[in-house]
Amino acid sequence: MSDALLETRGLAHHFRLKDGRAVRAVDGVDLAVQAGEILGIVGESGCGKSTLGKTLIGVLRADDGTVIYDGAPIQNLKGPALRAVRSRLQYVYQDAGAALDPRWTIGRSLDEALVIHTKLSRAERSARVRETLAAVGLHEDQLSLYPHEISGGQQRRVGLARVLALHPRVLILDEPTSGLDVSVQATILKLLVALWRQYGLTLLFISHDLAVVRSICTRVAVMYLGRIVETGSTADLFVNPRHPYTKSLLAAVPQPGGPRVIDQAWLEGEPPDPLDIPSGCRFRNRCPMAQRRCAAEDPALRALAPTQAAACHFA
Ligand SMILES: Nc1ncnc2c1ncn2[C@@H]1O[C@H](COP(=O)(O)OP(=O)(O)OP(=O)(O)O)[C@@H](O)[C@H]1O
Ligand SMILES: [Mg+2]
Repeated sequence: MSDALLETRGLAHHFRLKDGRAVRAVDGVDLAVQAGEILGIVGESGCGKSTLGKTLIGVLRADDGTVIYDGAPIQNLKGPALRAVRSRLQYVYQDAGAALDPRWTIGRSLDEALVIHTKLSRAERSARVRETLAAVGLHEDQLSLYPHEISGGQQRRVGLARVLALHPRVLILDEPTSGLDVSVQATILKLLVALWRQYGLTLLFISHDLAVVRSICTRVAVMYLGRIVETGSTADLFVNPRHPYTKSLLAAVPQPGGPRVIDQAWLEGEPPDPLDIPSGCRFRNRCPMAQRRCAAEDPALRALAPTQAAACHFA
């Protein structure tokens, strides 16, 4: 038995297109999340990070594999048991502002989440809303405002308050700082770390900003074409990446004072296409180390160092 709080084995979600083809967005993810960690999930746009987050909490159906929470598989839960687990696992959408109903005041948005997911009385809900509002640094007089009347940074805070009010154990944060200017990003990151401590949370931090991941995550999982290809403690992974994909990702991080790298021109070959995943190792057609074996054998994630594992025959 693993002592992970949240674990996936062979998890898959495939989007079916009208012509019958399958977009293998999440395609066999093995991941173990320990209680209390801040696990960064990184990878290029389209590699399946958001789909993984949504499949983990059941917004998207798992086509294959299992999700285990607190030692028990959760896919087949129903009724109250499912609701209980659902409230413990929360996903904060990539665009938290757009996820708020524009016709509802902030107060109503916060209250409604509690109406749907809890059996709290009106007075208890009101107390819970005020508690979480204070935790995210918003004021009670902002409860009567509409989403368009508050700033982008405040919208993120509301998005966080809405899920925190449900007293989750695991928060999946999808690009929590994207689209914010740098100073607001910094205050939101500081807030996330404060909330992580205050609520004893476990965080899955989805981001393609490697500098941010390095600054706040305790561990990192690197995703490529629907799979986790490397995991490691932040210290080990950034200093000694083992998978050739991780190496290329890190090579693209702008160094302080150095030139900015704008797009992904640093990676050779075709951009990855989840409609057409190569045989064997899915990274092989862009990999400088690829050999004949890589076309034939799909490498499994294997431990290479105490905190590190990589899915590469030659790592
Ligand atoms: N509803 C959908 N129907 C078909 N394909 C989809 C759908 N949603 C996502 N995809 C595809 O699944 C793959 C993974 O998408 P996903 O949004 O999970 O990536 P991501 O890693 O979160 O990217 P980003 O960094 O841009 O947010 C992409 O190829 C995407 O085009
Ligand atoms: Mg995404």
